[in-house]
Amino acid sequence: MLGTTLSRWTMSYFAAALCALIGAEALMAAGYGFPSADLRAPETLFLVHLVVIGWLSLLLCGALLQFVPVLIAHPLHSNTLPLPALAFLLTGLAGLLGGFLQFASVPGSGLPLFPFATMALAAGFGLILYNLGRTLASVRPLPLAARFVGVALLSLAATVALGATFALSLGATISNPLALKITAAALPLHVAAGIGGWLTFAAIGVSYRLLAMFMLAPELEGKRPHMVLWLGAGALAVTILGGLGLLLTNESLLPALLLGGVLSLAALGLYGADILFLYRARKRRILELNSEMTAYALASLAAAAVLALTFTVFHRFSGQIGALVFLILFGWLTGLGLAKLYKIVAFLTWLECYGPVLGKVATPRVQDLVVESHARKWFFLYYAATWAATAALLASSVFVFRLAAAAMLVVTSAIIVQLVRTRLLSNVSGPVALPAGVRPPRLLICLPESG
Ligand code: HEM
Repeated sequence: MLGTTLSRWTMSYFAAALCALIGAEALMAAGYGFPSADLRAPETLFLVHLVVIGWLSLLLCGALLQFVPVLIAHPLHSNTLPLPALAFLLTGLAGLLGGFLQFASVPGSGLPLFPFATMALAAGFGLILYNLGRTLASVRPLPLAARFVGVALLSLAATVALGATFALSLGATISNPLALKITAAALPLHVAAGIGGWLTFAAIGVSYRLLAMFMLAPELEGKRPHMVLWLGAGALAVTILGGLGLLLTNESLLPALLLGGVLSLAALGLYGADILFLYRARKRRILELNSEMTAYALASLAAAAVLALTFTVFHRFSGQIGALVFLILFGWLTGLGLAKLYKIVAFLTWLECYGPVLGKVATPRVQDLVVESHARKWFFLYYAATWAATAALLASSVFVFRLAAAAMLVVTSAIIVQLVRTRLLSNVSGPVALPAGVRPPRLLICLPESG
């Protein structure tokens, strides 16, 4: 990673994402949306998109703007586009959430929020797709992790296209029969493309590389990770393209969803075997906190896969889908996101501050920017609260769920305090923190090397 160009706006993406996460956890603790409201209620749609666009997509976009160039050892196509993309995404998200509020019949002004949100979100995600797509297109052959990202970007395009169709139909902007047919039946495809294809597939690809990098384990490029790529991409193609085909011929989506599910489970099984291999083959015997906590996120993903299979076999899937999606969004994706942020914020801050003077003056190590013993208990409590919330959803206990969500809110805030301390170099004391030639980092933007 040394010699890498720093992505100027990645910290701003992370900050906006963390605000959305805190907002979502506060709403869950306050009893807004599922499980206090129905799964398809506008309040739940509000909450879900605050999490999947506001938190997870912004986090992933910020991370990919920094890491795609690292994955392919080639600079980002444009360093100018990330800022307007962020502005469009935030504006679009606000519009979409406003549209859901209008739907929930909170007195609104009757503004055409859904069409506005659709245009802004399409512009924001479009700029991200163009920028990352052009960057990936400049290298052949693509390394394995970058291929996962490529498939994830295609899935993001499908998610946004379906979401836009829904929003325009719900906003009564279009009345085309095909669009209405898609809106009536394609929700499972939107969810699979968004949570499975975009968020999970990108996380899997990036985790291969980050786990190897941070645990000093060998890079995996063999047959098994390629099988994960092909099975996963096949699962997405069967689900999204096959599902659309069935929908357009007035057939049930079930065969596409079942076949896609079987292929996904096979891909996840092989991915699990790869990750176990990486943990065992690592050279760094004592795990850093980020790798240790990633293991709990991976355990949540494995638990979600087992639960999905069990619910399908016992015909309980549709009754427990809320708990399952919650475990995937918070146990797997948020757990992984927070664990990796803990390292990435330290690493990027270190690179930004000390990279230019390395070898010229004495500098702290990356690990000096964090105090793992302080953060560890918060991470443990985060997983405990998330798993308790999942159990409460499985047992249909709204009260216990709200208590657990309140605990998640408190511990996430404590983790954010740790991230801010790392970013501001508060954990490094004495003159070694700012030797000659080092300027203090800014919270929200990374400044390129001053030389
Ligand atoms: C970027 C990743 C996205 C993910 C992971 C995602 C996920 C979801 C999920 C899980 C639901 C079902 C929620 C429920 O039933 O409670 C949903 C519904 C919906 N999404 Fe998204 N979404 C994404 C992006 C978008 C975008 C960009 C738009 C609009 C431009 C959008 C518009 C909608 C609408 C309108 C619905 C409601 C559909 C209906 O009830 O008929 N989504 N989405």
